[in-house]
Amino acid sequence: MSIKLAPSILSADFARLADAVQQAEAGGADWIHLDVMDGHFVPNLTIGPAVVAAVRRVTRLPLDVHLMIEAPDRLLEAFADAGSDLITVHQEACVHLHRTVERIRELGARPGVSLNPATPIVMLDEILPCVDLVLIMTVNPGFGGQRFIESSPARIAALRDGLDALGLQDVEIEVDGGIAEATAPIVVEAGASVLVAGAAVFNRDRSVADNLARLRAAASGGEA
Ligand code: DX5
Ligand code: ZN
Repeated sequence: MSIKLAPSILSADFARLADAVQQAEAGGADWIHLDVMDGHFVPNLTIGPAVVAAVRRVTRLPLDVHLMIEAPDRLLEAFADAGSDLITVHQEACVHLHRTVERIRELGARPGVSLNPATPIVMLDEILPCVDLVLIMTVNPGFGGQRFIESSPARIAALRDGLDALGLQDVEIEVDGGIAEATAPIVVEAGASVLVAGAAVFNRDRSVADNLARLRAAASGGEA
């Protein structure tokens, strides 16, 4: 499976969001990652369905919507209607996770489930056959530009083993937080298939296209 890059617009200039998204698309991004925060599940507030809909109008790339919100069921329809292709909820935020995942699929989006760094991977055992993606947080969610948590690769490898044991090779393993040139090869080696990156893509050091090219090269062991 080739590695997908999903730039997170959290680190982009929100006043020039269309430019950022189009630079990412032109630079070879596979998905656009949108971080939705409610100020309750995480200590930060970001965007809602209106911004997802606005991004939908300026790119053809799949929109990968990461809901860091409490009680996400209330807003699933709004995010699906806004044009989300993938909708990921946090296991920690869902009392009836199976119902939530089924609802996302009914609404025509692909469901994902995310785990915070301190949540055991076994919490997903029953839901794995029902999802298209598992998002392993490699920082505590809430902010861009944080440091990668070193225990993450072992968690990714454990999830990869679990998916293999169930014959679920098509489920994507996405990683999110602190992904950059130094950490990309480590998470790919552990079994990740989708890399989210915010600060490593949208920064003042280099162009978005340069940053994506470097990340892709790092992810493929320097071959690209
Ligand atoms: C963090 C978000 C991430 C964030 C990653 O809560 O879920 O998607 O944008 O940012 P970086 O790549 O800067 O760690
Ligand atoms: Zn995210």
